[in-house]
Amino acid sequence: MTEKETMEFKETVNRIFRAPARINLIGEHIDYNGGLVLPACVNLYLTAFVKYRNDNKIRFFSRGFNGCIETTLDNLSYSKRFKWAIYPIGLFYILSKKGYEFKHGLDIYYESEIPSGSGLSSSAAILDVTGLLISNIYNLNLSLLDIVYAAKAVENDYCKLKSGIMDQAIIALGKKNNALLLDCNTMNYEYKNMILDDYMFVILKTNKPRKLVESKYNERVEECNKALSIIKTKYDVDNLCMLKPNDLPDIKLLLNDDILYRRVKHVVLEQARVIVFSNALGKGDINQLGRLLNESHESLKNDYEVTGIHLDTIVEAANKFGAVGARMTGAGFGGCGIALIKKDNNNFKDNVIKYYSEKLGIIPDVYMINIVDGIKEI
Ligand code: GLA
Repeated sequence: MTEKETMEFKETVNRIFRAPARINLIGEHIDYNGGLVLPACVNLYLTAFVKYRNDNKIRFFSRGFNGCIETTLDNLSYSKRFKWAIYPIGLFYILSKKGYEFKHGLDIYYESEIPSGSGLSSSAAILDVTGLLISNIYNLNLSLLDIVYAAKAVENDYCKLKSGIMDQAIIALGKKNNALLLDCNTMNYEYKNMILDDYMFVILKTNKPRKLVESKYNERVEECNKALSIIKTKYDVDNLCMLKPNDLPDIKLLLNDDILYRRVKHVVLEQARVIVFSNALGKGDINQLGRLLNESHESLKNDYEVTGIHLDTIVEAANKFGAVGARMTGAGFGGCGIALIKKDNNNFKDNVIKYYSEKLGIIPDVYMINIVDGIKEI
């Protein structure tokens, strides 16, 4: 849409909804292994401006995309022509399969500050915000968890990405100044206060165009499933996170496969780190938090192999210039890292940008962030 069309659209909307981006403090690549994760919402937003229609058309607009993507409420099956609107259309599809009815069409304009493909979960943001707007506009009374499950079904069944539930869950359930300690096996959760006095988290955006994320992601999920099926021949477990660190020597012999073993080792030790990290967060034990961030990154680099030169370099830069700890966040293979730094480390941003750009010839971004609430109607 042009600037003028956008202004006109926004001035005549019926409803406005908003979703934040997310970071994951720790617990990486273990949501789909039944593990504990500790994500939080950050103040980069995707906003959906909605106008009601009298017919059964649904039309999707976004900043930076000319024209619109359009379909009708009786024509929701997967199609390549839906392009980026595959997520919201997928949600209409999944909810319609569950028996929900939509009485009229909509025009939706999405405006996003969440860079897509950056590992901050722009896809879960568009899914959750669309879930909330559908629920509120058509009076479906969906709970936040209903929205989370529907959003995950779109990713898994409609888009065929085997992602876990962490991103959809945090963007729906997030709470200001809190991280969400979520058990992805039971879906039990509790909030962990994140007031860190003189310290804060920052986002380190590598600006590496992400490639192969989906295929590599699915490959990791398959490796874990393969390891689990072997482990189940001896252990009575439903998922890899039910194993304990002291099972690892025996698991190594049982798997007899270096790659599968290193994947399992990461999962089991990362799960243990989440528990220690969340206790340290409660006590404000900054050094412990920093140590665990670094250990998590090393494990994702060496054992799970999802980092790469860009994430490794930005984490190295962060630690070089005073971070207490840093790690990649999200799926990896490019995207973003996070660092825990002292609030008065005024040169951190400039130093990291300089070091990283001199090494890799790409200018990264460093965002100072706040921890905010999840999806909302505004
Ligand atoms: C992506 C997925 C999540 C999770 C992370 C890695 O963000 O969407 O489900 O698996 O990667 O922790």
